[in-house]
Formats: sequence, structure tokens, C-alpha cells
Amino acid sequence: MSKGRVNLKGIYKRFGNFVALKHIDLDIKPVEFFALLGPSGSGKTTTLRMLAGLEPPDEGVFAVDGEDVTYAPPGKRDIAMVFQNYALYPHMTVRDNIAFPLKMDKVPAAEIEPAVVRAAERVHIEHLLHRRPGQLSGGQQQRCALARAIVRQPKLFLLDEPLSNLDAQLRLQTRVELKKLQRSLNVTSIYVTHDQEEAMTLADRMAVFLDGEILQVGTPDEVFNRPRTIAVASFIGSPPMNLLPAKLDGRRLVVDGHVTELPFAPDHPGGDVTMGIRPSHVRIDPDGLPTRLYLSENLGESVLLNLYLGEYLVKVRVASFASAGDDETVPISFEPDAIHLFDTTSGLRIRTAQD
Ligand SMILES: Nc1ncnc2c1ncn2[C@@H]1O[C@H](COP(=O)(O)OP(=O)(O)OP(=O)(O)O)[C@@H](O)[C@H]1O
Ligand SMILES: [Mg+2]
Repeated sequence: MSKGRVNLKGIYKRFGNFVALKHIDLDIKPVEFFALLGPSGSGKTTTLRMLAGLEPPDEGVFAVDGEDVTYAPPGKRDIAMVFQNYALYPHMTVRDNIAFPLKMDKVPAAEIEPAVVRAAERVHIEHLLHRRPGQLSGGQQQRCALARAIVRQPKLFLLDEPLSNLDAQLRLQTRVELKKLQRSLNVTSIYVTHDQEEAMTLADRMAVFLDGEILQVGTPDEVFNRPRTIAVASFIGSPPMNLLPAKLDGRRLVVDGHVTELPFAPDHPGGDVTMGIRPSHVRIDPDGLPTRLYLSENLGESVLLNLYLGEYLVKVRVASFASAGDDETVPISFEPDAIHLFDTTSGLRIRTAQD
């Protein structure tokens, strides 16, 4: 039985002079749900297309279960892919779309119909088999594309932003079903998204991409709670953590003259550092640093304050806030044990006793 361990080693991809992928190394475990997360243009789709065999790399090796498949043709890879635009055949019925991979594999006709019905049932479109893609809603087309991908048991399941064409509510609902489906399929899955909430909720582990490079690989918990660099910290979280210049002296952290005593001893000689603090870990504190209220946004379950500390915008999430009006002074302090520290020059996380 195939396992589905995926290895990428030293992958480079260039388009003319433009380097789209720079030294990509990844080790994806069998049956893992692995997300490639990054902003637009960071190289996620290029990586997936390379895995699918649609685009060869310029350098590097791609292996599945130890076998080098870097230049194997798509049909020899035992991979199923779901594209962002679903790529259904418009002139075929849903039934024929789902059956297509089996026909290509020359599966005996008698086995095709039950397999198609089984796949359609798993994504709840068994009543739509006679329709054409043009007669389906976006969500139903997406399910049809999923059914076509799962109709055979591939070694590797590649998904490129499969939920991005769905409206917000359907996206949340389908996300849950997709996770359930992946668990029951037991297939290594690589999932591309620029939506960090999707990556956090779906993935066992993820790689954070930026400008064709991988900035961090880890579980959602690791990436969220221990971002490896300032770049990762400024991308993860909604809104992401506040990043402020600070001075470190032993356990004393000074931001704009305000001292926070750290409950841990940072592994750093001291001096200029960058402090990171999530909006929900900033407190309103009469003894704190004075900031100027720019705007308070009521999000229903919480209030997001946009405050200016000098020239720096600080976002603060509080349960409720009675505003005396814009431009009022709001004093803040930082929860000491929720503080992240980064070396300002290298951008690297400074290890703390809690890491
Ligand atoms: N065929 C191509 N020729 C030239 N440049 C390309 C080609 N394909 C991709 N690129 C460039 O490579 C970079 C990475 O593209 P890619 O599609 O992998 O990004 P992405 O992370 O999937 O972004 P998005 O979230 O917008 O889908 C982009 O700057 C893109 O313009
Ligand atoms: Mg893409």
C-alpha cells in the first residue's frame, strides 16, 4: 500500500529572469494535511503545478515515497488535483466529469458507475449527476470537482484554493466537510490558500511562503504562537500582532519610555529589539503609555481600537469600549507573558524561556 510521503529538495523555478521559487525544501508526512500559506504571488500555485507535473522545476528534486518523480509525466504520478476554477468539462454531465479519471485509467465500465455514485454521495451531489456544470451553483461545481478528484484513491491530493469561489457562509461549511473528507480518505493532501484561517483550521502543518521562499514550517499552533521571523509575525493573525521598536536590558523591556518587566530572560545581549504583541494582549491601563484614539471599530463580539502611539498604529481588542470621542487619550500596557521579541536587524525571533 502506498504511503504518500513527499519530499522537495532544493527546488528552484525561474520564469525568465524572475525567480518564482527559491530553494524550496519540504518534507510532508504520509496522510498529512499540509497547507501552503502565503500572500498572492508568493509561489504557492507554482509549487503545486510542479508537484502535479504541469511545470518542471529548474533545479531540485521531488520525490514521493522515496521515488524521484521530478520529471515524471502527470499521468504517471498518481496525483489528483482540484483547481481554483474547478476545471470541469462544460459539455459533459456531472456523472461523466466524475467518471473521467476512471475512463482514462481504463477501469472496466461495470465498476465505473458505482464508483461515481460513491464519490458523489461523499460530497452530497448524487442527485445532480445528470446535470452539466453550467447548471450547477458554484458550491455544487466545487463538490463535483472534489468528487472527480476522490473517485480514485490517489497517492497525493493537491488542492489550489478550492473554496475561494464560494461565498463566506458556504466556505465555512465546506471547510468543515473538506476536513472530514480528508480524514476519511487517508490521503496526503497539499492545500494552497492565502487565507490563514483556512490554513490554521484545516492543516496538520503548514509552510508560510513569501516571495518564493519558505519562511516557516510548523503546526498552526507553532506558527501562530512562535512565529520564527518578523515577516511571519506580521502576516499571521487577524489582525496580525502589533510590532513596535523597543529596548531590551536584561528582563526590562522599554517601549517609548514605558517599562515592562518580562517574566522570562530573553536569550539576547540587549539593545534595540522589536516587540510583538497581539491585539487581545494589550490592556487599557491608567498607568500605561498614553496613545491617541484614531478609530474604534465595533465587531459585535469585541471592539477593535486603532490607537496611535506616536507614529505607530497599535490595534487593541477589548470586550467593550465606551468612547468619549475620537482623539481621546487611551493609556495602554502590554501583558508581559504574551510578549514576543525579535532581533530587529536579522528579523529572527529571540528565544525566551517559554519557547
Ligand atoms: N508562466 C509564468 N510566467 C511568468 N511568471 C509567472 C508564471 N507563472 C507564475 N508566475 C509568477 O510567479 C510568481 C508566483 O506565482 P504563483 O501563481 O505561484 O503565486 P501564488 O502564490 O499562487 O499567488 P495567488 O495567491 O495570487 O494565486 C508570481 O509573481 C507570478 O507572476
Ligand atoms: Mg495561486
